[in-house]
Amino acid sequence: MKTSTLHLHTSFKVGEVDPRVFGGFLEHLGRAVYEGVYEPTSKHADEHGCRTDVLEALKRLRFTAMRYPGGNFVSGYHWEDAVGPRENRPITRDLAWQSLESNQFGPNEFLELSKRMDWTPMMAVNLGTGTPEEARNWLEYCNIKGPSKYAAMREQHGYADPFDVKLWCLGNEMDGPWQIGHVPAETYAIQAQQTARMMKMVDPSVELVVCGSCAIELPTYLEWDRKVLEHCKNDVEYISLHRYVGNWKNDTPNYLAVTNSIDEQIEAMDSVCKSVAHTKRMKKPVKLSFDEWNVWYRVRDGIHNDGGGKFAPHLLEEEYNLEDALIAAGFLNSFIRHADSVKIANIAQIVNVIAPLLTRGDEMVYQTIFYPIEMMAKRREGIALQVQLDGPSYASEDFGDATYIDSSAILNGDELSVFLVNRDLASSHEVTVRVGDRSVASCLNGELVSGTDPKAANTFESPNTIVAQNFEASVGGGVATVKLPPMSFYAGTFKLG
Ligand code: AHR
Repeated sequence: MKTSTLHLHTSFKVGEVDPRVFGGFLEHLGRAVYEGVYEPTSKHADEHGCRTDVLEALKRLRFTAMRYPGGNFVSGYHWEDAVGPRENRPITRDLAWQSLESNQFGPNEFLELSKRMDWTPMMAVNLGTGTPEEARNWLEYCNIKGPSKYAAMREQHGYADPFDVKLWCLGNEMDGPWQIGHVPAETYAIQAQQTARMMKMVDPSVELVVCGSCAIELPTYLEWDRKVLEHCKNDVEYISLHRYVGNWKNDTPNYLAVTNSIDEQIEAMDSVCKSVAHTKRMKKPVKLSFDEWNVWYRVRDGIHNDGGGKFAPHLLEEEYNLEDALIAAGFLNSFIRHADSVKIANIAQIVNVIAPLLTRGDEMVYQTIFYPIEMMAKRREGIALQVQLDGPSYASEDFGDATYIDSSAILNGDELSVFLVNRDLASSHEVTVRVGDRSVASCLNGELVSGTDPKAANTFESPNTIVAQNFEASVGGGVATVKLPPMSFYAGTFKLG
C-alpha cells in the first residue's frame, strides 16, 4: 500500500464553487432530444412527452446551467422555426450533423422543462448563419413583457409571462474551421460585440458568454481569445473553453494524467483574461465558462458525425468505462481547484450523445461516468480549498509527472468534502486528510467507484458492472484516513471539530 497526505487549511480558500459548474448540455444532435429527453410514444412519457426515466436519472445529477440548443447545431438554427403551434413548425435540414429536425421540441418546451427540472437555461444564439438582430429578437421574445412584436408573439404562443433567461452564449465554437459561418477572430469579435450590445439594450440584466478557443490543438489557440477579449472587453462576462479527451494510445496511466493538461488549459485562458483586463483597463477580468467537456474519441470519425439525412440518428453514442469515469472525476476536480476562475462548466452532453445515460427503446442504462458526477454533485455546495497533495507520482508520456492521487476539497460550514482519484492501476493508496487548523471529528458519509478492469463498462445486458458503493473512511487523531483501492474514485464528507 502506498501512502499520500492531503494537506488542507480552512483559511486557504480558492473561492466559492459556483453551482453552475455542475451544468449540462442538451443539443439537437442524434438522439439527445428525440428518444432522449423527449419521446411522446415511450411508455415512460409524461404529459409533456418527456421521458420520466431519463428525467429522474438527470435529477440525481443535480444539473444547474443547461446549455441549449447546440453546439454545432445552433450555427444553422433559426429559433422561429421551433416556436408556436407544433403543426405549423417546418421540418428543417441540420447541416452540422446532416440530420432532419422536426422542431417538435423547441426552445419553449426546453424552457418549460428547465423550470420543472430546476435548471438555469443557458441559451446559445446562432452567429453562424444568424444575425445580431435575430439574437436580439429571440431575447425580446424570451424576456420582455409586451406589447412589442416578439413579446406579443410569445404571448400569442401561450406564454403570458416572460421566461427571463439570464445566460446566453454568443454562438458556438466560432474558431473551429468546421463551424458553419466560421470566420477569423477579428470578424467574430465584431459580430459578438454587436450582438452583445443589442442584447443588452433589450435586457441589460443578461450575462453573456463569448466563444473562446474550443480546442488546444487549433493554430489560433489563445490568440483568438486575446483578440476577441480585446475587442469585446466589458460587453461580455464569460469566455468559453471546450475540451474532449480520449485514450487514443490505449495507455491508461498516461490518459489519467490528462488532468495536468486540463489545469494548464484553465490557467492559460485565465491568464489571457487577466492580461487583457489589465492592458485594456477593464473593470474586471472575464471569467471562464468551460461549457463542453467530456471523453469523446471512439465515435468521432465521419460516420459517427453524419446523420444520413434522418431524424434522430444514432450519433456520438460513446460507451464509457471505468477509466473514463475517473477522467470525469478529474475534470470536476480541476474545475473545483480553479473555482476562482471557472464559473460555469457543462458536461457534453446529458443523454445518448456522449452522455452519462443511454436509452434503447424503453430501456436505459447508467454509464460509468454517471456515478462520479452524482457523487460530486451531491457535495458541491461550499468553498473550494487549496489542495496540497504530498505523495508518490509517476511520469506520464504526454502530460508530465502526475501524483497518483488527484484531489479537490470543498468546505461547507463545518463540513468538509474531499474527492480523491487513485490513478494507480496496481496499488492501493492510503490517503491521510489533514486540516492544518482544525481536526477531523467524524466521517458523515462516503462512496467509492472502483474496479479491476479499466475497460469495464455498464451495458444493457450487464448494467451494474461499475456503480457507486458506500465506503467507510476512518477518523482518528484529528485526521481522516481513506484507503483507496487501485483505479478508484472516492467522495466523502467529514465533520470538522
Ligand atoms: O458536443 C458535440 C459537439 O462538439 C458540439 O456540437 C460542438 O460544439 C463540439 O464540437
